[in-house]
Amino acid sequence: MSIKVAVLVGSLRKDSYNRRLARAVERLAPQELAFEHLEIGDLPPYNQDLDGDYPPRWQQLKQQIQACDALLFVTPEYNRSVPGVLKNAIDIASRPYGTNAFAGKPGAVIGASVGATGSALAQQHLRNTLAYLDVPLLGQPEVFVQFKDDGPVDAQGEITVDSTRTFLQGFVDRYVAWVHTILKR
Ligand code: FNR
Repeated sequence: MSIKVAVLVGSLRKDSYNRRLARAVERLAPQELAFEHLEIGDLPPYNQDLDGDYPPRWQQLKQQIQACDALLFVTPEYNRSVPGVLKNAIDIASRPYGTNAFAGKPGAVIGASVGATGSALAQQHLRNTLAYLDVPLLGQPEVFVQFKDDGPVDAQGEITVDSTRTFLQGFVDRYVAWVHTILKR
């Protein structure tokens, strides 16, 4: 049976390096994983006043997450933290209180940056939030990828550096095993 993975990429940029990274990881994954990229750029900002009458677009995001078995977060680093667009999506899917759509779903956090730290600080902040939201997160390997114009992943999601391919394959293998462990299947 196929395992549905909800992918949340924290960049809206057309040529996002983080989206490239997500595509590269998908290409390395076994067929049993079906990845679904969730659109988060058009979500109205979260407002607690609307908890009693959740807007349809917010409900749709929650339903999309609920319909998935596992989670993959791919985040850039904006000013040493998680981009607002991703945090907004997480806040929406976590509410109204008691209906957190993420709870119990196995997840992983990876990311890329043009900086040498490869979005490490943003990922650490994101891990904090996801731990609170009861997401069992893969601990290792951490994936901090530094991008330059020529790689290590091209615009089609093709990995252009052998050591990156080997490293990302190791991540994917651990992620798949983690998902099976948590889902018990
Ligand atoms: C950045 N960038 C950045 N990089 C980093 O390593 N640490 C940081 O704190 C920041 N801060 C930051 C803030 C804002 C508002 C922008 C627009 C950018 C650079 C960032 O890594 C780079 O733009 C990446 O290309 C963003 O990822 P995507 O859009 O390519 O996926």
